[in-house]
Amino acid sequence: MKELPIGIIDSGFGGLTVVKQCLKQLPNESVLYLGDSARAPYGPRPLAEVRKFIWQLTYFLREKGIKMLVIACNTGTAAALYELKMTLPIPVLGVIDAGSRAAIKHTNNNHIGVIGTEGTIHSGQYTKTLLAKDARLQVYSHAVPRFVSIVEENRVEAPQTYHQVKEDLSYFEDKDIDTLVLGCTHYPHLKDTIQKAVGPNIKLIDSGVETINEVSTILDYFNLSRSAADLADYGVHHQIYTTGDPERFARFARNWLEDPYLTVKQARIKGEMIIEDTDSQL
Ligand code: DGL
Repeated sequence: MKELPIGIIDSGFGGLTVVKQCLKQLPNESVLYLGDSARAPYGPRPLAEVRKFIWQLTYFLREKGIKMLVIACNTGTAAALYELKMTLPIPVLGVIDAGSRAAIKHTNNNHIGVIGTEGTIHSGQYTKTLLAKDARLQVYSHAVPRFVSIVEENRVEAPQTYHQVKEDLSYFEDKDIDTLVLGCTHYPHLKDTIQKAVGPNIKLIDSGVETINEVSTILDYFNLSRSAADLADYGVHHQIYTTGDPERFARFARNWLEDPYLTVKQARIKGEMIIEDTDSQL
């Protein structure tokens, strides 16, 4: 079982922030990634629809074989984590628990801000998780729907982006938060801009980074981790799929993961299924 890759899913580019951490922290592991860019963003969709999509992405990865599933999408986690955890025979991890734990660890004044998609924020999942762990907290959560489009449309460096980010985060100006959870895996792509907008005194929590710490612990616990000695037997082979345009996805992924040779394959949505398009590979 330990020879299988770790499965990671997201609505698009966002989960690559989790993949990056996985490559850094778990260099002996292979990653099988599927980003559903054809249907991104998930944030404005009803949670029931997101749950259906997450199941489709999961079937795709399970067919290929994975030893663990990471829902590297906060919206997907809010919609489907519980169901997947209860159903699948492999460990399943979302990103909300790890992000919440890290926020509690870092706050000094117990005032925590959370930003996310409409789906994540309206689900109330972060507030519920944080308050269940510590009822003394003041949690201020706020949806910032524009941020995902900025990333998916490659506008991170555009001149108007800083002003849009600043404007959307002005909600927190009178909240006295000392910690802000990036409750969407797309947001670390905008981390520098967000930090500049909120100032240096607010600690940003990257839920994806925190999740990989937990992936490592869980793999060890279930004896699923590959050691450096296993490398000779299994090798490391990352596979990245998108339901969107593989060329665009490859450009973004190569840049973000700093790997000019990375290949991206096409997955196609056919009715209720996602299947591999074996003709296309970039
Ligand atoms: N990256 C995802 C999340 O963490 C989804 C963003 C979207 O597609 O709206 O919520």
